[in-house]
Amino acid sequence: MSFFQTRNGVLHVEDVSLPAIAEAVGTPAYVYSAGALRSAATSFVNALSSVPRKHVAFAVKANPNAAVLKLLAQCGLGADIVSAGEMRRALASGIAPKSIVFSGVGKTDRELADALAADVGQFNLELEQEGEVLGAMAQARGQRATALLRVNPDVDGGTHAKISTGRAENKFGVPLAAAPAIYERISQIAGLDLLGVAVHIGSQLRDLVPLEAAFSRVGQLITRLRAQGHAVSRVDLGGGLGIAYRPVEAVATPAAYGEMVARCTKGWDVDLVFEPGRVIAGPAGILLTRVIWVKPGLVHPFVIVDAAMNDLMRPALYDAHHRFQAVQGRSGTMCAAIAGPVCESGDTFACAGEIERVERGDLAVFRDTGAYGAAMASTYNCRPLSPQVLVDGNRFTVVGERNLLGDLEFAA
Ligand code: LLP
Repeated sequence: MSFFQTRNGVLHVEDVSLPAIAEAVGTPAYVYSAGALRSAATSFVNALSSVPRKHVAFAVKANPNAAVLKLLAQCGLGADIVSAGEMRRALASGIAPKSIVFSGVGKTDRELADALAADVGQFNLELEQEGEVLGAMAQARGQRATALLRVNPDVDGGTHAKISTGRAENKFGVPLAAAPAIYERISQIAGLDLLGVAVHIGSQLRDLVPLEAAFSRVGQLITRLRAQGHAVSRVDLGGGLGIAYRPVEAVATPAAYGEMVARCTKGWDVDLVFEPGRVIAGPAGILLTRVIWVKPGLVHPFVIVDAAMNDLMRPALYDAHHRFQAVQGRSGTMCAAIAGPVCESGDTFACAGEIERVERGDLAVFRDTGAYGAAMASTYNCRPLSPQVLVDGNRFTVVGERNLLGDLEFAA
């Protein structure tokens, strides 16, 4: 079922028309569908039905909006966090501390202490020294910290270089070859319960082959660690499953992923942890924008919209494509580049492509922006952060106010 449908010529999110939202909050604005979020969360969990013991922790970095986290918590998801800020968001959204996984290559002492005080359920260690620091802190507090060791399996996820994390040259995890010795030493640190290993090879993975290669290397490591006498009882398989940003794009489905995981992990006899982000939140959001100008150009016209690279960084950072769709389609198409008002040529959403014909004042959306959209927005060019709206059936709620630049406005 699609939660984004054109009815009587007007694009709706569930039962709410986008012109009604533009009227209420202005543009640009992020709009999320509660139904799409629930459906993605349920599909992911159901896809893992053959995995007996599992915990799904939503990667908060993909969409840290408190209303979104709350809704996902109600669907039974925990949180994968990478900062104290994300931890506070997760806790405030009703996610139990024990359902929180603390990932991240540079957790500060302060963040480790805050997470211990909050009693988070799992720390994914990135290096031996982090284990020593965390163990000492836990011991001083009379606590034990549950930890996994993140390994780098040296597998190329076949994704954009900037979001690949599992190759030998990437900063994440400890090299697989060094893992048994490091694991041995960390297992002896007082204050820590080292339960197993974690892996995450990258994001927007469209193909399951690299994931399967990484998981099979983890499987071999488990055998090795058990032979060393360690009772490996938990393995975190990370996130990374991609989504189809273009209708024709071939991307592995959660069902295929679940089938591969069940096959690969058969006989491991561990609790499995998953950290999906994009596949849950990405398709559930759109960025609503208005055409300011259709500006003639020497080569092609420019559709200048009121959303910009500060609202949606992905095209400028990763050459990412987000489907542009008119809210009230006119007949015909045009060849144009779509750009925002920021003073950089990189503030371009699409180059000289065939798009639906639009005119000054028209509303349009960028699809699949529920993950790493608002999450990565900035106030570059002193542009305010866009409001965020959550639609549920025929109701919508403003779940993130337009940020009016506070101190910047009043500094003078
Ligand atoms: N777990 C860990 C340890 C991660 O580093 C990430 C993402 C995830 C889980 C969630 O991955 P997902 O299921 O969403 O692929 N800003 C980039 C994506 C960066 C992803 C960073 N890590 C983008 O807009 O494409």
